Amino acid sequence: MKFFVDTADVAEIKDLASTGLLDGVTTNPSLVAKTGRDFIEVLKEICDIVPGPVSAEVTALDHATMVTEGRRLAKVADNIAVKAPLTPDGLKACRALTDDGIQVNVTLCFSPAQALLAAKAGAAFVSPFVGRLDDIAIDGLGLISEIMEIYNAYPEITTEVLVASVRHPIHVVEAAKMGAHVATIPPGVLRAMFKHPLTDRGLDAFLNDWAKTGQSILKQPVAGDSDDRAPERRRA
Ligand code: E4P
Repeated sequence: MKFFVDTADVAEIKDLASTGLLDGVTTNPSLVAKTGRDFIEVLKEICDIVPGPVSAEVTALDHATMVTEGRRLAKVADNIAVKAPLTPDGLKACRALTDDGIQVNVTLCFSPAQALLAAKAGAAFVSPFVGRLDDIAIDGLGLISEIMEIYNAYPEITTEVLVASVRHPIHVVEAAKMGAHVATIPPGVLRAMFKHPLTDRGLDAFLNDWAKTGQSILKQPVAGDSDDRAPERRRA
């Protein structure tokens, strides 16, 4: 499963990209508004940090303007994926941009029928919003399962299921079990995925026992030694 981070906050993206675990980024108009920054400037910075797809959303409602906006956004960097809403105009724009060779992420998908349409329109990604469905007491992960069943029945479908509106690690884990291709994860949820109290407790115990030995890996000689130790250790 590919991991995208769902934010337009450049500092967060830098920090998470340094883990080597990020495959892409998704933004939306609300996330960009939250930064208070210039959209294109932010996009350029993000595209320089993460080589994978960076979703940038059009804001027009008619397909002709969506296509114009999409083509402009695609010029920002080679790794831009244009985001278009799941409306008739959005899907028309998706087809036109896809025919231009631009990756399109069809967003705001809330039903299997909509996901089927996005695939027909040639979308590179479809974004079903699990959390927003859960919020209204409809099973968001159930939607992922239905879309995966449909897409798997047609090997010619190349659209990737990008699980969006993720609220907690279980959304990611369950979607991964279903074989969803991508999850776009808010920074806080991605950080929560690292956490387990037994990891912390186990590490404490290991380090306490290690301290009792009085040894240091950096101070002990190994074959081919000399310059692969930290500078302060080399002098030791
Ligand atoms: C997806 O690309 C959207 O940006 C995002 O996942 C929406 O999530 P929200 O429901 O938390 O706003």
